Formats: sequence, structure tokens, C-alpha cells
Amino acid sequence: MAKAYEFIDHHHDVVVVGAGGAGLRATFGMAEKGLKTACISKVFPTRSHTVAAQGGISAALGNAGEDDWRWHVYDTVKGSDWLGDQDAIEYMCREAIPAVIELEHYGVPFSRTPDGKIYQRPFGGMTTRYGDGVAQRTCAAADRTGHAILHTLYQQALKHGAEFFVEYFVIDLIMDGEGTCRGVVAWNLDDGTLHRFIGHEVVLATGGYGRTYFSCTSAHTCTGDGNAMVLRAGMALQDMEFIQFHPTGIYGAGCLITEAVRGEGGYLTNSEGERFMERYAPHAKDLASRDVVSRSMTIEIREGRGCGPNKDYIDLHLEHLDAKMVMERLPGIADIAKIFADVDVTKQPIPVQPTAHYNMGGIPTNYKAEVICPTEENPDATVRGLMAIGEAACVSVHGANRLGSNSLLDIVVFGRAAAIRAAELVKPNTTHKELPKDAGEFALARLDRFRNAMGSIKTADLRLEMQKIMQTELSVFRTGQTLANAQKRIRETWAKRDHLKVSDRSLIWNSDLMETLELDNLLHQAVAAINCAAARTESRGAHAREDFPKRDDKNWLKHSTVWVNRDGTTKLGSRPVHLNTLTDEMESVPLKARVY
Ligand code: SIN
Repeated sequence: MAKAYEFIDHHHDVVVVGAGGAGLRATFGMAEKGLKTACISKVFPTRSHTVAAQGGISAALGNAGEDDWRWHVYDTVKGSDWLGDQDAIEYMCREAIPAVIELEHYGVPFSRTPDGKIYQRPFGGMTTRYGDGVAQRTCAAADRTGHAILHTLYQQALKHGAEFFVEYFVIDLIMDGEGTCRGVVAWNLDDGTLHRFIGHEVVLATGGYGRTYFSCTSAHTCTGDGNAMVLRAGMALQDMEFIQFHPTGIYGAGCLITEAVRGEGGYLTNSEGERFMERYAPHAKDLASRDVVSRSMTIEIREGRGCGPNKDYIDLHLEHLDAKMVMERLPGIADIAKIFADVDVTKQPIPVQPTAHYNMGGIPTNYKAEVICPTEENPDATVRGLMAIGEAACVSVHGANRLGSNSLLDIVVFGRAAAIRAAELVKPNTTHKELPKDAGEFALARLDRFRNAMGSIKTADLRLEMQKIMQTELSVFRTGQTLANAQKRIRETWAKRDHLKVSDRSLIWNSDLMETLELDNLLHQAVAAINCAAARTESRGAHAREDFPKRDDKNWLKHSTVWVNRDGTTKLGSRPVHLNTLTDEMESVPLKARVY
């Protein structure tokens, strides 16, 4: 170990990294099962990005009309453009019902129907009877559902005695020579101490990499730290080219305006006042899936029918809706629109633009939350001691495009699945094997490298350079040309990583160093996403190639896998999609054209 550093060691049965909805659901589930559980978070748990989720969590409860979890499976497979693994999708949609009822019992303050049931609203792509009708499947706590869920899960984790390590930044995984994950190295931001958290299972619940983009709905903390740790440990990420643009980010500011606005009767118009979604998705209209709506809006703007002096946004209307209903069901939106767009939603439309919102790709896992590192012999080979959940993971239940309200569902169902699996794999208080002699040195070398970065380029400047590349070249539409530009530009940006300047050498509240480590994480993922996108010569879900406008099942019905080498080059591969469902209670959904 580098002489200047000393570790404080902690031993737990399980170590969860991240305290968003997925991390907290896993943490309290594991603690509840008698496992000594540590939860490490770089922000206070209730500030995690789940707090910003607005519209709701999907589950076929049938509180507002007929519903069936099999219809939810069908919608999710179609929404994924058939890239989702159907065994995992069946697991998620079936388990949605008990998982949401459990949340209700834990204390989530859901909005209610007049007869006291959980309130459910329509969301994009959610149908009844395999596409025939509109399902009201999204369970909501007004438009602050993520907030309500996150606070409840944190209280449950405290109640079950999980140990929290708050404002600790995890630097890297500790892997042993046999490829087993043994723990993580973390830096206590408050007092500068360095820690090794040793566990029989490490669970990465570190969220997405939204901040690779200039304009996104993600918090500044969404730097995909766990994904980058996996890459640095020599494992693959999956489907990184599939990045969702939410149709309704506030113009200029990028803040989310929930899809629930359209679920409650809101609609989009162009500069001619036309409800243009009727042309693009005659059946689902404004409630088509997000990739479809974002592309339609982009075409309207490109063809000169955008609103405003620069014709570069679309109007989202709620002013025709009952003001009392808006204040009751969408109070947060009314506030956000006033603060960020100076709009009174009862009188004026909100200016909106598609904005980077969600990463369908990430760390490959099976539906039990175990991390997969594919080998030539076994595309489903699991990594001992390592799990991933939430937006960090690619289970893959969202495939090429996620349906709105399936992400709160994903975090709860797979957080719970991780707890179930950990309880099967780990006996409470089992002795830990001795760590390898060099355990933690890889992380220290990385910390040291950036702590002593004496170059001339500021972290903020390099981050902006990367974000502009992602924003312009890896957007709603892509072409071979934009992707070749992106590859060239990101290579140049990666090279500048050797010339970064970190001015503060302290380990106590050194935000410059922390942001530099986060930027390094982001750069790994930008490289992975760009190279996967350049390789995939078809259009599927959120990956829309103008030079390859059709879905190509013959060549591309497969997950992309990507490894990032130390020099920023990549190795690309693939894994088969699981087209089989999990049980015979649901037949797999056959491939067909995806129209809304
Ligand atoms: C929304 O409320 O529109 C966002 C929730 C989600 O992405 O599922």
C-alpha cells in the first residue's frame, strides 16, 4: 500500500453501495433477514436521485379498471423493442403487485381513489388486453412518488438496524485473484480517512450516468460510479448505447416534467397549435412510448414547427385541465414550471424539449441481481460476490427503451430480489477469508493519481467538453457521421485526462478531487456508450440511426457488451437476448413491428 495511506477495515455480511430506492430496498431487506448490512452513500440517503422521480410506479393492481400482469409484460417487451430479457420482465411484472402492496404496508403515502385504494393513472405505452385499451397502471403519490418511496425505505432501513456510512465516496472494488468481489475501498469525505468495507456480497446500487450529458433530468451526483468500477475491474457493461430522452424536460433548464401530465390529460402542440402526436402515433397519441414521442418532437422542431422565437421547443398544455385536480395530483409540476419557466400551468403551456433522462444499459445481471460477466463458453456466467440493481444494472427489463414508471418498479423489485438472493447465499456472521495482500491498492493508486494531478486542464472544463460531445453527437437521432465524430472527439477528450489539474491536495472535503474521480467515471461510460452506438447499425428503441432506420432482428437482436481498456480503447461483444419467459404462466411475446 502507498505509505501515506492507512485503511480502517469494516467487516459486514453484505455491503450495499448507494442509498437510492434500489440500495435502500436491498439494505433493509438484507438487514430484515438478519444479515449485518452496511450501506455506503456519497450523499445523505434521502437526497439520492430517486427523490426526484415524479409520476409513479407501475403494477397491475387493477384499481382503476381491468388489468393483468401479463398485459404489463406484453407492454414492457414491446416498449423494450424486444431487447428486454423476457424471463426478467415476467419476474418484474408479476412481482410488481406484492412489491407495491408491501410498500403500502411499509407506509408509502400513496394517493387514494374515493374508495380508499391506491390511486393509479395512465402512462405511456401501458395498455390493457395486449394493446387494445389504455391501462391505468401507474400507482402515484401525487407527483412526488419517488420522494414518498425513498423516505419510507430509509425509515425501514433504520428500523431494521442497517449501518449507514454517509458521505463516503466509493473509489473501487476489491477483487481477489479468483475473480471474486471481496469489498470496496471508500473515502470518508468528512474527515479524509480511507476505509475497506469487506463483505460476502457487494451490491452496486449507484445509479445511472446521466451527467455524461450537458442537459439531463439527472442529479449532479448521477455519475455512474459503480458502472465505472466494474469496467476498471475488467468486467463488461451492456447495452450502453440505449439512452432515454424524456420528452418533457423544461426548455433550457432540463428539469423533469412528469409524463403524468400527459397521463392526466395534458397534450403537446407545435407552433401551428397542432396536436402533432396524432400523426405519429394515431392510437396512443401523446401517450406513445418515450422514444417515439421524443423523436416526433425532434422532427417537428427540425422541420421548423418548433415554438418560440427560435422555434426550438414544444408546448405542453395543462391549462385546459381542472385547476383543482392539477393542484391535487400535480402540485410539484405547478411549482417547478413556475420556478424554472415562469409559467402558471393553469394559464399557459410549459415549454419543453426532449432531455437525457435514463440509461437502459449498465452492469449486466440476471433477475436475481447477480452480476454477469459473459465468457465465450457461458454468456450468462455470474461473478462471485457481486450484485447490481437499479439504474446501474441492466437486468435487462427495459431493453432498448424503458416505459415510464417501470423504473421505480425496477428498483423496488430487484432491490428486494437482491435481498432474497443474498439471504440464500450468505449465512449471517460467517467469517471472512483473509484479503489478498494488495487488497485496496488499485483504488489507492487511482486516488493518488488524481490527487496529484498537476496538469493544466480544469475538471469542469473537461467535463463540459465530454458533455457537449454526448449532447450533440449521441442524441435522439444518430448517424454514422455523428458517431464517427463522437469517437474522434471522445478519444481526444480521454487523452486530456492525463493533463488534469487538481489544485487541492487535502482529503477533507476536497470537492475538486471528488469531481475529478466522478469525471473519470463518466468518461469511461461516455467511451462505452459512443462505441456501442457506432457499432449498432440498426434502429431499435432509443437508438435511432438515420442511416439505418429499420430494426434488424437478423443481425442485432442481441445485447451489446463492452469492455474499456486502460488506454480508453474498447472491446465489443454481444450476448443473446432471453426470448423465453420464466414460467408457463406467460407465453413469450413474439417479435413484430412496433407501432403505437
Ligand atoms: C416521470 O414521472 O415521467 C418520470 C418517471 C419515470 O421516468 O418513470
